[in-house]
Amino acid sequence: MRIDQAVNLDDLRLLAKRRLPRIAFDFIEGGTEDESCIDRNVDAFARRHILPRYLVDVSQRDQSARLFGQTYASSFGIAPTGGVGLFRPGGDRMLAETAVEADIPFIMSGGGGLSIEQLAEAAPHHAWLQLYAARDAAITEDIVRRAEAAGIGVLVLTVDVPVSAKRERNIRNGFDKVIGNWWQAALGLPLPVLLEALRHPRWIIDYVRHGGMPPPEVWRPYAPAGAPTDALIRFTGGQMSNPGQTWADLERIRKLFSGRLVIKGVLHPDDAIRAADLGCDGIIVSNHGARQLDHARASLDALPGIVAAVGNRLTVMLDSGVRRGIDVLIARSLGAQFVFVGRPMLYGVTAGGRAGVRRAIDILKSEIDLAMGQAGCATLDVPPRTHRCIVAAMTSK
Ligand SMILES: Cc1cc2nc3c(=O)[nH]c(=O)nc-3n(C[C@H](O)[C@H](O)[C@H](O)COP(=O)(O)O)c2cc1C
Repeated sequence: MRIDQAVNLDDLRLLAKRRLPRIAFDFIEGGTEDESCIDRNVDAFARRHILPRYLVDVSQRDQSARLFGQTYASSFGIAPTGGVGLFRPGGDRMLAETAVEADIPFIMSGGGGLSIEQLAEAAPHHAWLQLYAARDAAITEDIVRRAEAAGIGVLVLTVDVPVSAKRERNIRNGFDKVIGNWWQAALGLPLPVLLEALRHPRWIIDYVRHGGMPPPEVWRPYAPAGAPTDALIRFTGGQMSNPGQTWADLERIRKLFSGRLVIKGVLHPDDAIRAADLGCDGIIVSNHGARQLDHARASLDALPGIVAAVGNRLTVMLDSGVRRGIDVLIARSLGAQFVFVGRPMLYGVTAGGRAGVRRAIDILKSEIDLAMGQAGCATLDVPPRTHRCIVAAMTSK
């Protein structure tokens, strides 16, 4: 199958799986512990049914969305994912530039492969930056200042990683060994994992040619000067895992950053209320794609309670489990004003670089368009309450 033959996002997943050794593919796919949350995320969408409305004029369908003063071509954007360069060298830039082309937002992971300044230059009006509050508050403050100076309009503070998750696929595969350079990785991996990896020569060539694991460029200025990539990655990991992060950090960031501040990883309505009270502009209802707390609630199930709690006080967005255009419609119907997509964009960039990302975006857009026509919904860009009336009732069973 070629990229242009991919009919749905799962086809892109299969292409990505073919390109990557298991150790890398598992890093994308995996959840934590029993991985029950992965199924819960998918099931939350599958459980929702639409009661379509007919005899509605849907000859002109508009899936654009207005968000933080900007109109985007669709109601979804690219969620932040670290390690993109491991799957496709230069992948962060490919995601950023394709997002510009498609006119959707791209959130670069704080562990991404571009510096803040490179990101702003690659996608001046479409780049958002995700960050974790560092253990060293001075670093966080500098990142925030640099983002503002570079013209990044939206900062996304991820709050659902107070401690590192137990990702058992990574433990079994010896994933932390790939942090070093390629020969350290080769020597350190369990033999079956190494032998399986050798069956993906094109990926291996890319990996070796680009010097192994991609460095988290945002953090380079704070690591000891001239630190090799593995030291930079360890330094970044140590700073990003911050169990001491509290609302006080959020307050400080809010005071420092004059652009839009979004909190990612909110599941409890009281946290949403607190974020609104502290002047945040938005939240992303998310369980980190089932990668943190295995018994976390599905984002879609958490959404209605949060929308009821904060209403229009801030912009409510959602990620985790979106795999079809209809999922975007469902999330919007339940009150999300925007949706982010994580793994499917990684499948695209892994499978085919820019063309793969473009394909993933086009597939989702055409499915949204179709779903809108089928449901009797000519526009998505209306306030959630009105929108729910247009799409009609959603039932949970
Ligand atoms: C490989 C991978 C890396 C990720 N890295 C980050 C990250 O650096 N920061 C972050 O806030 N979320 C990260 N996420 C979570 C995504 O932003 C998003 O919440 C999740 O992928 C959404 O679920 P989905 O994959 O089902 O769409 C990562 C997800 C994946 C799959």
